[in-house]
Amino acid sequence: MKKIICLLLFFLIGTQYAPAQNVAQRRAERMKAGMNLSYLDNWWLGTKEKKYADFVKPAEAAKREKMFADIAGAGFKTVRVPINFGAWANYEKPYRWENEEGLKTADSFVKWALANDLNVIVDLHHVEFDGKVQGAATTERIAWLWSKIAERYKNTDPQRVFFELRNEPHDIKAEDWRAQAEEIIKTVRPVAPNHTLIVGFHDWNSRQALIDSKPFADRNIIYTFHFYDPFIFTHQGATWSSEGLPELKYVPFPWSKEAKIETPATAKGKWVENQIESYRNDSRNEKIFADLKAAKDWSNKNKVPIFLGEFGSYSLKPTLEDRCRHAETIYAALGKLNIPSAWWEWDGGFSMFEKGTGKIAPCMRKAIDSYVAAKSFSN
Ligand code: BGC
Repeated sequence: MKKIICLLLFFLIGTQYAPAQNVAQRRAERMKAGMNLSYLDNWWLGTKEKKYADFVKPAEAAKREKMFADIAGAGFKTVRVPINFGAWANYEKPYRWENEEGLKTADSFVKWALANDLNVIVDLHHVEFDGKVQGAATTERIAWLWSKIAERYKNTDPQRVFFELRNEPHDIKAEDWRAQAEEIIKTVRPVAPNHTLIVGFHDWNSRQALIDSKPFADRNIIYTFHFYDPFIFTHQGATWSSEGLPELKYVPFPWSKEAKIETPATAKGKWVENQIESYRNDSRNEKIFADLKAAKDWSNKNKVPIFLGEFGSYSLKPTLEDRCRHAETIYAALGKLNIPSAWWEWDGGFSMFEKGTGKIAPCMRKAIDSYVAAKSFSN
């Protein structure tokens, strides 16, 4: 009897005083394979004169309701929703919301995700508008945005709703981003003390930036990074990134002797040319696994959970078979390493669909399943 009482006490005290770090760890364990559902980040669909505030079209947003069900139906457990809240507020102090309609669409997305039993990440995305809107991404303005976002979602279930502070900070020094993140954390915490925050580091949330950084003092954080390696495979044909990529095509996955990659004239002497030279090594399964393992080693060393918030490949140029092989390499590694993730993206240029359909291609299905097949965790 004494033993039982002792055990009971131990259990009660244990659960009550479990360190907050374990909260983040437990929530990360439940994220599993996830999906990004873009649209509320597409500020460029708005008009320049209105500083893109009008980018959301109600009919287009409404189509997403069914997509949440499809994402859950496909077995994904988490949906990351990139949202440019910045487009819906003014740019000079005192800040205020100027587009309530936009905010309501964000509310609907969160509601639809929860209605489908998905974990949902409210991700502040593209707040810097590619440098096209002055004053959009100051620390003061982002902290103000977060004071409002946290207030708006503070009553949602903290087991299921996550707050991602800022997508891919770039053109900002490591220490400046860190100071900005600290400021945002300080703003959010008094409002939403129990929600888990998702935080990545400078240099576009790169894996290397994660490895080079230290965790924050707040223990209820899951650390995120993005992984689009090998970049010349995942971004061949992309017009928004490095020089030489728009003209790049026929990059197979993995490298093969038979398929010679031609260096476009625009890539000569540029980063992309170097990447073509190292592609044979960069596309090896072992190299990709080792790179992801290094992120997991960082997580283990610091005793904090990690989450791969974006990976995927642009579908314009490569064959579906090559994209599936790439996806399978990554998913299998994530399964072995027990790293939760979110594919970029459900619909749009990076989707997993068979061309011209809204259905996940069979070889992509196989790739996703390799996550669970390779697992070192329980589903
Ligand atoms: C950006 C997208 C882009 C993707 C892949 C995301 O973070 O928001 O616009 O398509 O990365 O490059």
